[in-house]
This record gives sequence, C-alpha cells and structure tokens, in this order.
Amino acid sequence: MLHVAAEIFPFAKVGGLADVTAGLSRALQAQGVDSRVLIPAYPPVRNRAAGLRVVWTCDNVAGLGRAEILQAEVNQDQAPLWLAASQAFFDRTGGPYADSRGIPWPDNLERFAFLCHCALRMAHGVTDWQPDLLHLHDWHAALTAALLGGQGSCRVPCLLTIHNAAYQGTASCAHLRSLGVPDDRLPSFDGAASSFLGLGVRWAERVATVSPTYARELQTPRCGCGLDALIRDRGDEVIGILNGIDVDVWNPATDPHIVRPYTQDDLAGKQACREALCVEMGVDANLQGPLLGVVSRLTWQKGLDLVVSAASAVLRAAAGLVVLGRGDADLEQAFVSLARRHPRRVAVRLAYDEALAHRVIAGTDALLVPSRFEPCGLTQMYALRYGTLPVATPVGGLADTVFERHPREPQRDPSNGFVVRPMSARGLTHAIRRARSLFDDPSAWRARQHNGMREDYGWARSAQAYRQLYDAMLREDPGIPGSVVP
Ligand code: ADP
Ligand code: GLC
Repeated sequence: MLHVAAEIFPFAKVGGLADVTAGLSRALQAQGVDSRVLIPAYPPVRNRAAGLRVVWTCDNVAGLGRAEILQAEVNQDQAPLWLAASQAFFDRTGGPYADSRGIPWPDNLERFAFLCHCALRMAHGVTDWQPDLLHLHDWHAALTAALLGGQGSCRVPCLLTIHNAAYQGTASCAHLRSLGVPDDRLPSFDGAASSFLGLGVRWAERVATVSPTYARELQTPRCGCGLDALIRDRGDEVIGILNGIDVDVWNPATDPHIVRPYTQDDLAGKQACREALCVEMGVDANLQGPLLGVVSRLTWQKGLDLVVSAASAVLRAAAGLVVLGRGDADLEQAFVSLARRHPRRVAVRLAYDEALAHRVIAGTDALLVPSRFEPCGLTQMYALRYGTLPVATPVGGLADTVFERHPREPQRDPSNGFVVRPMSARGLTHAIRRARSLFDDPSAWRARQHNGMREDYGWARSAQAYRQLYDAMLREDPGIPGSVVP
C-alpha cells in the first residue's frame, strides 16, 4: 500500500503530519505490510534523500506540466520513498505550504492536485511497483480518491485519514473540473463539499481520523468545519485511530539532545535538564514552582492566546514559562512582549528547532496544550513520556490521552496531567494552580509522572488497527487491475 502525504519526518516537516507519515509507515513495515510513501520533491527532500533515480516521466500530467517520479534509497527500517517532482511546483525556496514569510503559495491547489495525479499514476502501475491500496493523508492527498473514478481508470481502494479538517483545499466546482475531477465525481454546488478534503470524504472507501474523540467531534456542526453532514453520511465507515509516537526518537533514556538522560525510576536527570534549559533560555533557575513549557505552532487552533491573557495569574503559581513556536504574527508578538514584561521568568524562541523542542519537553515540568480543537496532538504524548505533565483542554486526542480525576475519588488515581475546564483564561489559571499544589507535594507529583511514563504510546497499536482496516478494505474490494493512463 502507498501513503500519499505532503510531509514526512525528517525530510519535510511542518507539524505532526510528518511524524505520523514516518512513524506509521515504518511501524506497518515492521508488521509485515508492504508500506511505501509518496511525497512532493521539495528541495530539502531532494537534497537529503539518498540515491535518487527517475522511475517515470511525463511531459504533461493532467495539464499541470512536466512530471517525474523519483525513487529514493532508504535504510532497511524505513518505508520505501517516492517523490513527485515538478520544477514549476516544488523547486522553490520556502516551506511546503508557504513562502519564507509564511504567505501561502498562491497555486497550492495546483501543487497538490499534481501530487494526487502522480499518486493516481502510481495506482495505475506506471512504476515497477503497483500499490493495492492508497492511504491518503489530509487534503493535500484527498483529491486522489475522486480522480480514481475517471474513465479508463482502475480502482484501487482508498483510505483517507483526516489529520485536520480545518484545512480543506477549497475550490469551486469549475476549478475542480479543471484539475481533472471527472464530472460524475464533482459536487453539485460550491461549498464545503467542493474541496479536496470534501471529495476525499465523499469518495474514499473508508475515512479515518487521528483519535476516537475527534471522529465523534467531526460529526457535529461545531467541529466539523462544514463537513459534518458529509462525514455523518459515511456512518460506520468513519473510524478514529489514535496516533502513536516514535518512541525511539522521543525517549528520555537515550535522547541525544538533552544534557542528562533519565528514566521513570531515576528522575535526577530531569532536574539537570530543567537547570540546563533555564540557563540556555535565560530563565531564573532558582524560582520555586513548576516550570511551564510550550512547543507549538502559534495558531488560533492551539489556544495559546489564553496563556497570554492569563499570564499574570499563571506566573503567580509557576516558576516561569519557556515558549518555542512560530506562527501567526500577532501571537508571536504577544509572546515577545510577555517576555519583555517578565524578564528571567518568560523566555520565547520564535523558531522551528527540533533539538530545542526535545530540551523544552525534557526540561519543563508541565507542558501547556490549551487547544481549541486538537485532532490528536503529539506533544502531550511526548510530554507524558518525559515525565512532563500536560495541562490540556479536553478536546480531540487530548481528551483521549490526558486525564485528571477529581481528587476525592477513592480508586487508584490514573491522572497523568491537568485538564483545563472550561476552555478560558480562568480555566487555565485554575489548572495551573492545581498543578502548583501538586508540585508542592513531591510524592504526589511523582505518582502522576509515573502514570504518564509507564504508558505505551508507541506506533504498534495504531499500526495494527490500520492493518486490520486495510485487510477489511481489501477483502471488500480487491481492486480491479486497469489500463495504464498516460
Ligand atoms: P500540529 O500537527 O497540529 O502542529 P502536533 O502536536 O500533532 O500538532 O504536532 C506538532 C509537531 O511539531 C510535534 O512533533 C512538535 O514537536 C513539532 N513542533 C511544533 N512546533 C515546533 C517548533 N517550533 N520547533 C520544533 N518542533 C515543533
Ligand atoms: C494535525 C493535527 C494534530 C495531529 C497531527 C497528526 O496537524 O492538528 O492534532 O496530531 O495532525 O495527526
């Protein structure tokens, strides 16, 4: 089977999608599934991928210009990787979705339609390996499900995983037609359904998303981003499978980015990580209370404006705050002013820095994840593994992974973090105050750390659930070998 996606770690990463494509494809390989990946040939990918060779060329793919499919050489434990190459669409300086100032590429619809047409060609067997199933990730790949219905096309069953329904690749019906969507697959009017993601939801054989709670939320008008009716129509063909994390990359016992490794049984290294992080970021290391961290895209979704609004109250309960993030200009600015107002208490790094992300997760005591919505969220799972207690809103995958039981309940306490309720500056302040009280009781804090650290967040369980889904899809629809479409 072939994963089609816009990102894969470590070659091209903007957010969690990259971690998922890498982790899931590898875990599936380990479980004996022939799992391979197709992503766009952005320049950093071309530069990093080894042994590239051209396996297919076409002078004009679907009116979108010249295409090449390249195959990369990968390590034995990685899933085989193909790149969809187009000089016009991908040979540019900037990110996968936007230029270096963060302005989205104006031709993003064409760029990702191009990726989908390359996936379609692979489904038709233009390379020497032909997938029996396509696993499409997010809107960037979703159009493939609609293209596969075209005349002379073979049918390869498609699974669409929605990582974030807020991004849909919206286009008018006329625009979608010009991108190659067959007439009988076009929506009847412009709207949420007339988007790459809408078409994917409509035409993929199955629809998955990245947590059970988000699967339910997507079916409500409040969280469905206009797709809720379409998703409800799919009934029990919609499934929520919680993401895993790469437990080799995110392992406090072996992490090469942190000053001192540590384990659940010996947390001394974590204290050393906190001290080193304070020195690195210029935060006073002697203040009492939990050191708070943020590692995130700075967007409305992540609810971090609440941290800014509640800052004074939060800083009365906590020792300090370390923020690593990049994103919306006003949120970036708000954090910079916060750091100016609270020198030695608040430190902000507006950057994308993989190594520093590890040091923040290891060196803080609590990680703030007050998202307005969160399809899955990976950072709270990294935090749990590092004995850093998440402070999270009960939405999407956060609700499925972060627990705080009312203190008066008698049974063994399964709490592993703090739940922000309600989703407001007050709710956040209350959660941080509870964190402070617990922090002042070291054995209770340790118990909560252990609850998180002992859990298995690895990919095996999710990969197995996907494997069962692929098997079911292939049983229902073994695919019809079709002719090769140029
Ligand atoms: P999303 O995909 O919505 O951004 P996730 O929690 O699923 O949220 O994944 C975010 C991923 O991006 C994590 O691997 C996190 O460590 C990483 N990340 C986010 N911001 C930064 C940053 N500024 N520097 C380094 N890594 C970051
Ligand atoms: C999206 C979501 C995030 C999820 C990630 C990987 O970016 O915003 O919640 O963890 O995809 O599935």
